Order: sequence, then structure tokens, then C-alpha cells
Amino acid sequence: MCGIIGIASNKQVSSNIIESLKKLEYRGYDSAGIATISNGEIDEKKCTGRVAALEKIIFKTPSLGNLGIGHVRWATHGAPSKINAHPHSSEEVSVVHNGIIENSTILKKNLEKTGYKFKSQTDTEVITILLTDFLKKFDLVLAINKTLEKLIGSFALGILFKKHNNIIVGARRGSPLAVGYGHNENFLGSDSYALKSMTNKITYLDDGDVCILSNDKIIFYNKNGMKINKRIQTLSSDKQTADKGDFKDFMSKEINEQKFSTKVCIKEYVNHLKKDINLYNFPIEPKNIDKIVIIGCGTAYHACLAAKHWFEELTSIEIETDVASEFRYRKIKFSKKNLYIFVSQSGETADTFAALDLCKKNEVKTCSVVNAVESSIARSSDFILPIHAGPEIGVASTKAFIGQMLVLYILALKISKIRNEIPKAEYITKISNIKKLPDLINKTLKCESKIKIIAKDVYLSKGFIFLGRGPSFPIALEGALKLKELSYLHAEGYPAGEMKHGPLALIEEGLPVVILAPQDRYYEKTISNMQEVIARGAKVLLITNEENNIISENIRFSIEVPKTDNQLTTFLITIPLQLLAYHIASLKNLDIDKPRNLAKSVTVE
Ligand code: M6R
Repeated sequence: MCGIIGIASNKQVSSNIIESLKKLEYRGYDSAGIATISNGEIDEKKCTGRVAALEKIIFKTPSLGNLGIGHVRWATHGAPSKINAHPHSSEEVSVVHNGIIENSTILKKNLEKTGYKFKSQTDTEVITILLTDFLKKFDLVLAINKTLEKLIGSFALGILFKKHNNIIVGARRGSPLAVGYGHNENFLGSDSYALKSMTNKITYLDDGDVCILSNDKIIFYNKNGMKINKRIQTLSSDKQTADKGDFKDFMSKEINEQKFSTKVCIKEYVNHLKKDINLYNFPIEPKNIDKIVIIGCGTAYHACLAAKHWFEELTSIEIETDVASEFRYRKIKFSKKNLYIFVSQSGETADTFAALDLCKKNEVKTCSVVNAVESSIARSSDFILPIHAGPEIGVASTKAFIGQMLVLYILALKISKIRNEIPKAEYITKISNIKKLPDLINKTLKCESKIKIIAKDVYLSKGFIFLGRGPSFPIALEGALKLKELSYLHAEGYPAGEMKHGPLALIEEGLPVVILAPQDRYYEKTISNMQEVIARGAKVLLITNEENNIISENIRFSIEVPKTDNQLTTFLITIPLQLLAYHIASLKNLDIDKPRNLAKSVTVE
């Protein structure tokens, strides 16, 4: 994963590098580093932990210079340590890298044979040494090209040179990289978000591109080494802000914000006057679609699973879902009559991007459901459906999940209407129900005080089970994932009907089991499964709708979400699970916004 930044300016750069690195921490936060060119020498500083720790070091011993690169790391090769933190510098060059060099072991062996010594366990250091070696024999551009030719794998690079002390070189293959244009300064960054406070004029590098930036110009080369011109884009201004406001952390802000983010999204897609959905220019005529394949990772994949139910209920189209890391290596039978939908908050997830790329190579139609509209996935797909959730900073995805489900639900409804598969009256009722969703989310959020009590009762448990059927099953998976990533507790989501095929053996006295049983066509079956776990001593938290008539003195807690359309209930039953994971992690005093070992944007395989 990792985030990189580079600034070439006519003034000191270290404080802006630090501010940008803070914005990139969503990509990795196990170590951080900076290198500047100061008095003709490379000045490198790095440390384990957060950017705040690096900032303290720089406060004591300033990093001087008008040219610098910075890095936040999510370890792939070598443990998080000061020595493995980037930049990796030699006497001549300093390199920051996002991605993975797959042939680093063999390159390292060959370089060691010629006498070079390595300081770290990283794959990145081979780039530093290769470049140092080639610079002895070739000019700058040739040395860069020779180095890049040797690399197999993915990279976005930022490179400083001792002897060329007014330029930064950027290069991209597989991992995203953008440049930004400023007044007497230019920037390099893993994404536009990191550059946004300094410029709104951006160019994205394409695969194979190399750029050389100084404070007054940027030169681009394509993968064939030809000088090229690239389009400058003006970034849109965010309506929602990326600061915590009065909230303790981003996650609590983002959970709370769902009542607003859904409103913004609905306003973008639903025309209440015309009682219709504003979705046109589909990349493929909906009446001719044979199959829809919906692909994502992690939480985004859970949104795909929920959407499968809605597409199946509302249309006659065959629906398939897949985890991107599996899809990209399967032997897929592609068809031009299929639509391939990619779901991703960041739009930069490496596996999802690779799966999209595979579709593009097979010349089939693609659509992306993304939050970051300037992301690689958005830019590469035939049709973009933004979720309009605003910046999501907490590593655990909450408002983006609700936004992804909302856009997929709206898409299913519209496709059903175009294919004449939904009666007009039902379509209109569903549209007016969507309008009420933000309000219902607001009402559901009021369960927080009860969730706090429940969290106190269960937070010391060893493990948790989440059960649901139909569209509640993906929410069970999502509830378990949220709890795992935030509280480091073992949690499993299962289809409730699967329990007796093995997992029932896990139930013991006091094990918390969360039952998702809204009053839909699966209700009675799920309630029977609930009785089975209660009979074996489980401590049950039932999540259902208001006006539920289930009375069982053996249910430890119950949460009732407001009654609405069955399909929209799926959104509401998600909220108590987000709050439960949040409050359990909070009682355990864990870092809510940056759980251990994770990163917000998973830009490596
Ligand atoms: O940016 P993406 O939506 O593509 O990210 C996919 C997953 O990495 C992400 O949803 C992850 O599972 C979250 N941390 C879960 O909260």
C-alpha cells in the first residue's frame, strides 16, 4: 500500500510534505519518512509509527531544502522498523515507493554479487541500488529507464538525486500516481486528496509514464520513452469536509453522517417530482443484458452480495458476485452481453483495479460504483456511478458501505423499470420510500445508548457470531468484519441456515450471537435458528423491526429498527452493527480510525 509525496518548490518543503503525509496515512501508518536535498546532500529522516512521530523529529532537527519526498508505509517486505521505512537512500539517490517489486530477491542477489550491500529487508532498496549503479554508467534519463526495465511488479516512485538537485522523478506502473501544478512549485502524490490543499490542477500518470518535475515545469515521457503532453484536470471541491468536527474520531462522525450522505446521494439520483431515477447513457442497453457480475473486496464485496438479492428480486437478469482477488485469476467466460460492475470506496484497490483491467482487455462493458471519482477505477471504467458519500477517513468503512448499497439498489430499480419488470405503482412507491431513508437512518442511530449498554455486557467475550438469511446474510458478514477489524476479536458471519452444518459446535454458554431477523420472508426460519442457539446457551442480541411480536425471555437484548420497505431494512439493520463494533473497540481503548495492520486503501495485491 503506502503513500508517497514529492514537492519541488522555491521555498522550504518539509512542513507541506508532513501535512500531505498526514492525508496519506489512510494508505499506511506503520512508519514514515522524508528526504530533502539540503546543502547539496540528501538529508533522510525516518521513524516507526505515525507521521506525528516524524513531525516531532523534524521539529527538533529541521529538514531543510526546497526539494523533498515523503512516505507513509504499510509493510510488505520486512517488518515495520526504522531501517525498513522509506525513503531508501544511497550517496546518490533517495527513493520512495508504493507497490511490490516481485523480482526483488533475484535482483538483490545479483547486486550483492557485484559488491553492493543492502541495509533493509525491503524490495524497494533494489531500486535505490540499481539506480545508483546505472547512474555511474549512463545519463539520468537512461539510468532511470534501465532501472525501470529491470523491475517486475508494481510501483509508483518518487526519486531525489544528489547531483540533479532541482528535480524529482516520478514513475508509475500498476500503482497510482498524480502530479499537481502550483505557483513556483510542483507536486507528486499517490492521490489527488494529498495534493488538494496545495493545488486543484492535477494530471494522472498512466501506466508506464515517467515524469520529471522541477519547481517551474513538468516533463512527461510515455512507456516508449517519448516526450508527451498530458491533460490537466481541475479537481472538484468537496461539499463534505474531511475534519472530525466535534466528534472523537472519524468513525463516529462517519456513522453519524450517514443520515446526510444518503440524502446527498438520493438527491443526485432520484427525481421526486418526476418520480423517477436519473440514470441515463448506460454503457449497455439494460434490455439486452444477459448477466451482471458485481465485484469488490472486503466491505465493498458485502455491498455486492446485498445487491445480488435486489437485482434478483427486481429483475430477471442472472447475477453473479465475486471477490476481486479471486475474479482476476479465474478462467472467466467473458461476454459482451454482460455488464461488469466494480464497487470500491477508494477506487484504488489493487485487486479490484486488476479485475476491471481484465474486463477491459476482454472488451466487455464496465461500470464502477465509487466514492473517489478521480480514482483509477473510476477513470478506467465505461460508466461511473459515484456514491457521493464525501471523504471517508476511518479505515473501517461505514458511510461508504451504505452509499454503495444505495447506489446499487437505485441501479437495480432503474434497470428493472427500463426492462418493464417492475409494476409502475410499485416503482413509484419504492422511490418515495427511498426519500424517507435518511430520516429512518437518523431514527435508527438513536439506538446508540442501548448499544453502549450491550457493548459493556459483551466486550470481554472471546468471540462473536453474526447470523442472517437472504439480504441480511451479507450484513451479518459485514457486522463480523467491522468487529474483527476494530476490536481484534474473532467474529464470524454465517447464513443462519448453515449453523447446524458445523458452526453450531462453537456455541457455548454466554457466547454472543447477533441475530439479524427483520420481518421478511426469511423471518420465521431465522427465529427458529435463534431458538437453536439460545437452547445451547448463546447470549442473543436480536436485531429486528419495530412492532415485532417475538417475545422470548431468553433474548438478552433486542434492537428494533423502524419499519420500512424490506429492501431498505437491510440498510437500517447495518447501523446497530457499526455502533456495536465501534463501542466494543472504544471500551477496549483501541485506535478506532487506524486499526492495527490495516490501511484504508489496499493498493497492493
Ligand atoms: O476502497 P475499497 O472499497 O475498494 O476497499 C475495499 C476494502 O479494502 C475495504 O472495504 C475494507 O474491507 C474495509 N476496511 C472494511 O471496513
